[in-house]
Amino acid sequence: MQTRFTTVVSFTVSLALSTIPITTAFAASPEPAKAEHGMVVSAQHLASQVGVDVLKNGGNAVDAAVAVGYALAVVYPTAGNVGGGGFMTIRLKDGKTTFLDFRERAPLASTKTMYLDDKSNIVKGLSLDGYLAVGVPGSVAGFELAREKYGTKKREELLGPAIRLARDGFELVQGDINSFKAGNKRLAKDPAAAAIFLKPDGKPYAVGETLVQTDLAATLSGISDKGTDSFYKGATADAIVKASQDKGGILAKQDFEQYKVRELEPVKCNYRGYDIVSSPPPSSGGVIICEILNVLEGYPLSYLGYGSAETVHAMVEAMRYAYVDRNSALGDPDFVDNPVSKLLDKAYAKEIREKISPFKAGVSKELMPKGLGESHETTHYSIIDDEGNAVAVTYTLNGSFGAGVVAPGTGVLLNNEMDDFTSKPGVPNLYGLVQGEANAIAPKKTPLSSMSPTIISKDGKPFMVIGSPGGSRIITITLEAILNVIDHGMNIQEAIDAPRIHHQWLPDKVYMEPYALSADTRKVLSDMGHTVQIDKDWSIWGQAAGILVGGASLSDIERGGGARYNGAIDSRASSGEAKGY
Ligand code: DON
Repeated sequence: MQTRFTTVVSFTVSLALSTIPITTAFAASPEPAKAEHGMVVSAQHLASQVGVDVLKNGGNAVDAAVAVGYALAVVYPTAGNVGGGGFMTIRLKDGKTTFLDFRERAPLASTKTMYLDDKSNIVKGLSLDGYLAVGVPGSVAGFELAREKYGTKKREELLGPAIRLARDGFELVQGDINSFKAGNKRLAKDPAAAAIFLKPDGKPYAVGETLVQTDLAATLSGISDKGTDSFYKGATADAIVKASQDKGGILAKQDFEQYKVRELEPVKCNYRGYDIVSSPPPSSGGVIICEILNVLEGYPLSYLGYGSAETVHAMVEAMRYAYVDRNSALGDPDFVDNPVSKLLDKAYAKEIREKISPFKAGVSKELMPKGLGESHETTHYSIIDDEGNAVAVTYTLNGSFGAGVVAPGTGVLLNNEMDDFTSKPGVPNLYGLVQGEANAIAPKKTPLSSMSPTIISKDGKPFMVIGSPGGSRIITITLEAILNVIDHGMNIQEAIDAPRIHHQWLPDKVYMEPYALSADTRKVLSDMGHTVQIDKDWSIWGQAAGILVGGASLSDIERGGGARYNGAIDSRASSGEAKGY
């Protein structure tokens, strides 16, 4: 293989802790939060505090994850939820790892063509707004299973803080108001949602005012008293089904009664000696992060440097190939035979590397598989406890405030996760993803996700907990945080804050956050054939939440004496906080 990189490949192979690259610090990044006993990093400061309190009261990381999940449903309604779904990656102190899939399932009455008109064209908005967009929610079942199997605390103890925050209300800070802005217009159209998230005069809430959610407090109290049955078999399911029937949806009581969490083997791979554990199908996240890392392992990224044209070219080409696989081959494992072992094979990564020209951009449409013709919201939180149990959770309503509807009397915002399916092969969804048959809609099927709650260990010990929202960009956001720590020597806060790039095969563009690439780097890339586009809308670049163990950066770890837990919430996140004790 002819390559620009041949002269330095041997350097990569020998890359070890002792060859940690030296990078300049980002003056703009604050210091990571430091703690010795436990760390909770979430997108809302009150929810992080709830998690720390659970840890301090003797709960483990799973207990804290459950309490934070319920609390975010109250204090971060744009994405935190009981009416949506998500994934939890767990690494226990003994090294055992597992994965809970509590993502939404398609209703029994769903059909492959439910979002198409009689000319087979997509009906705009149908998979995004209102009850037809709603998948059967999984968060409550997921949190309960996590608590029963891996937690130590009683349900009431973990739901208590969320119930209090909903019943007594919480004071809104600027970050809350910012995240509400994305939803105000849509929520105004649904009377039950407007009654909660807008003031009686129809105006949005302001900083310093208190948001009370009485109906949500009652729904959460029902779960606290009676467990999942209260949500899936009782009054909450009845109210959601009734509202859905009244407003053109297809949710039925059986959808709720039949909902089951799946406990799955996480995806595992090794990158330069680090063991990565992440989300398996029905997420594409773990597989695609690993596929990209396997390709990139053959390039000396540390030597080539953060943000250099050669590093970005290698990243973009690896992303291009991996997203073709994502969009054409992956789907719900109960419905599709996912080629996971092929995609995780280092030999397959080598084949991809051999196709990548060191001088020229690839052409996405030449990779079109046969038969394949925006502010968004999700949230991620990372937790580690005193014993070293680590939990990464990404859960979502999909778009900001989901389908924008609340079933009257429940206080529960419902998701619009159905849009993650392929409504029509070849036609882009909310995140511009052009997907195929493997992700077609079918009753009880789960739409393919990009959510990537990830835990990394080194020499059998937890090293990093990481994940982010960001739709199709979740994969590259999580990936880049990992590369920034392992290859570029950044501390966890810098790694999360550093400007990002993204490529997802189609559209055939390198998206860059402002300042990610210098003008001359962009010139080199466009001379190679890349189309580089600056995406100024900060809200689509995610809000990563990470923890690094043993130091704030690799060099801090190597020097010894770094703080045990180093937490970082993305500087893009408006009201989040990393809190430890
Ligand atoms: O599961 C997925 O891949 C999407 N529903 C995630 C949506 C998301 O991250 C929106 N937030 N920015």
